[in-house]
Amino acid sequence: MQIVSVSSLKGGVGKSSVTLGIASAALRAGVPTLVVDLDPHADATTGLGVQPARGHDVGGALRRPRRGALERVVVASAWAVREGLDAKALDVAPGSARSSYLDRSEYRDKDLGRLERALAGVSGYDLVLVDCPPTLSALTRTAWAASDKVLCVAEPSLFSVAGTKRTMTAIAQFEQSRSWAVPSAGVVVNKVRHASVEHRHRLQELGELFGPLLVSPVLPDLPVWQQAQGAAWPIHRWPGAEAKDLSGRFTAILQGLLERAA
Ligand SMILES: Nc1ncnc2c1ncn2[C@@H]1O[C@H](COP(=O)(O)OP(=O)(O)OP(=O)(O)O)[C@@H](O)[C@H]1O
Ligand SMILES: [Mg+2]
Repeated sequence: MQIVSVSSLKGGVGKSSVTLGIASAALRAGVPTLVVDLDPHADATTGLGVQPARGHDVGGALRRPRRGALERVVVASAWAVREGLDAKALDVAPGSARSSYLDRSEYRDKDLGRLERALAGVSGYDLVLVDCPPTLSALTRTAWAASDKVLCVAEPSLFSVAGTKRTMTAIAQFEQSRSWAVPSAGVVVNKVRHASVEHRHRLQELGELFGPLLVSPVLPDLPVWQQAQGAAWPIHRWPGAEAKDLSGRFTAILQGLLERAA
């Protein structure tokens, strides 16, 4: 079971969108996947067509992270239900405002193991995707501590390049200062407009800064994605050439993740 956090210390760059895109690719490829929605805004949960039921959310599981705590809050995504698939095809541990008590910069060391402990006993998935909030909070650190890999989402813009540097530095410092190991990190570049001179310049800059850590392919800025998300549909099921292009890119990113884990 590979655990991948989708993270960035900058808001709105596409963390939840990338989580949903990879989840969509996994559903299409038949890779049993669990999405853990750590963001108190719960956008990934909404995108998967799930309404968190009272008391059945990640916040509660993290509050008392006993063995099996997370498994008890997991529900099937509407994407999988619509396709008549069995449990564990694509499930979600729903997010809610209840996890916000850990969305703060102060934390005790024992807080960092909360997700890892809550995930103990979870089985039957090949991939766990953790959608993180945009803050360097205890929540984000619990995700890093539990993960085999962190995917940092970046946009080709000045502020996002700076945010990506901050995120990668924070991950490196996290590794050095703790007994938690985050074996690898990658940078997914999102919302790319190749026609923009500024975007081409920032893409080159990201390449110089992060070289082999850049995940291929990059993801274009396409309004069709917002339409699919608005309908809570997987991008692999959305009609049209643009959705097909995006789907192919997410399938390639998923394959890269699975190959590296093998
Ligand atoms: N490649 C893309 N093309 C078009 N729209 C996109 C793309 N990626 C993301 N978006 C849109 O950008 C907005 C922000 O994306 P998203 O919510 O995934 O970012 P986030 O990093 O998770 O934000 P937050 O920090 O608030 O959690 C959403 O409206 C989403 O639909
Ligand atoms: Mg988000």
